[in-house]
Amino acid sequence: MNQIKVLAIFGTRPETIKMAPIIRELNRRPSFALKVIVTGQHKEMVQHYLDLFSIVPDHDLSIMEKEQTLNTIVINILKRLPAFLNEIQPDVVLVQGDTTSAFAAALAAYHNRIKIGHVEAGLRTRDKYNPFPEEINRHLIGGLADFHFAPTQKARENLIAEGISDKQIYVTGNTIIDALKMIVGKKHRFNDGILSKIDFEAMRVIIVTTHRRESFGKPLLNTLNALKRITELFRNTEIVIPVHYNPNVRKSVYGLLRNVERIHLVEPLDYVAFIHLLNKSYLILTDSGGVQEEAPSLGKPVLVLRETTERPEGIKAGVAKMVGTDTERIVAAVRELMEDLESYRKMAQVANPYGNGKAAARIADVLQSKGKSM
Ligand code: UD1
Ligand code: UDP
Repeated sequence: MNQIKVLAIFGTRPETIKMAPIIRELNRRPSFALKVIVTGQHKEMVQHYLDLFSIVPDHDLSIMEKEQTLNTIVINILKRLPAFLNEIQPDVVLVQGDTTSAFAAALAAYHNRIKIGHVEAGLRTRDKYNPFPEEINRHLIGGLADFHFAPTQKARENLIAEGISDKQIYVTGNTIIDALKMIVGKKHRFNDGILSKIDFEAMRVIIVTTHRRESFGKPLLNTLNALKRITELFRNTEIVIPVHYNPNVRKSVYGLLRNVERIHLVEPLDYVAFIHLLNKSYLILTDSGGVQEEAPSLGKPVLVLRETTERPEGIKAGVAKMVGTDTERIVAAVRELMEDLESYRKMAQVANPYGNGKAAARIADVLQSKGKSM
């Protein structure tokens, strides 16, 4: 059988989660021969997800360095990936999202004249430094891609506005909802000492994740100061922060919030534990793209710790609010949701603006319909 040769390339935690449903779907269909390469941009933060979704990469470029820069990520991928592209000779390379791994892999594929499918295409803030460097990464991948898998209509419109032909755009939903559905009903008990001691019935638990490069320094410190104030103002509140491995994040978070009463700093959680935690929470504060997409499906209000978002759908649906990184603004937004239960109730609605869990099947359908000659 003349199978379609697909090569999925990814390197970080969110790409792994969002690529996993596609890998599962392509592996199920006999018309595809799939290979997987991880760049190794993340190490510890990817291995767990590979195990969870039973993904065994064919190759690992092992590029992660403790003090890696945007340039070293690009350079190492461009040095190490082409040999594998030559060896595998895929009909199409799939990249996901807007990381530097996704951009560098797409560029290398283009240099080899290999077709490129961009998963989660068309997200835009139109602000080149917000988020940095993701806004430009996804724009550049858009320029290189042949198939644009847009998660929403809005993303499709963004691409059309940039002159990309509608014929190359496929609105699929976001594969993160597929991934979420794969794990959401799983039974879970926290084995983490801190989490298992929290009384989720008596306390209002706020989950915080923050890691964006453009927030390093003052904006991040403003956010962390807001968290301190929140625990002082609301005695029935506990805050849990799974602290990202990025050393810039860890320095600020541990520097300011170590040993603060009712603020719990924990290591990044495995996916099942994290979703379980979100489900038991009162409220989520985040600058994460993926968490903004998951929270509405779980019916949890989200305050977005950013000045812009490429995910306006949650805000439009009334389940997310953008609060930026100003201390007072964050405290005021949390206060409203603590004191005004009607405001809280309005935001705590289940909404699915990012998909219905069938995105991977749609992507596989498109590739299958194109056939080997693409
Ligand atoms: C990266 C992506 C960002 C994405 C985020 C998801 C880029 C430029 N940034 O940011 O778009 O939202 O991942 O989490 O592509 N580290 C470890 N172990 C790990 C992962 C990271 O120790 O498993 C540490 C290393 O010291 C590494 C540093 O974190 O040098 C930064 O990692 P990097 O991938 O460059 O940036 P992120 O902030 O993780
Ligand atoms: N996540 C996780 N454990 C954690 C924090 C986040 O499994 O401790 C998951 C989360 O559910 C989401 C993804 O990681 O699916 C988001 O990754 P991240 O915030 O690192 O990247 P972004 O989405 O902002 O690019």
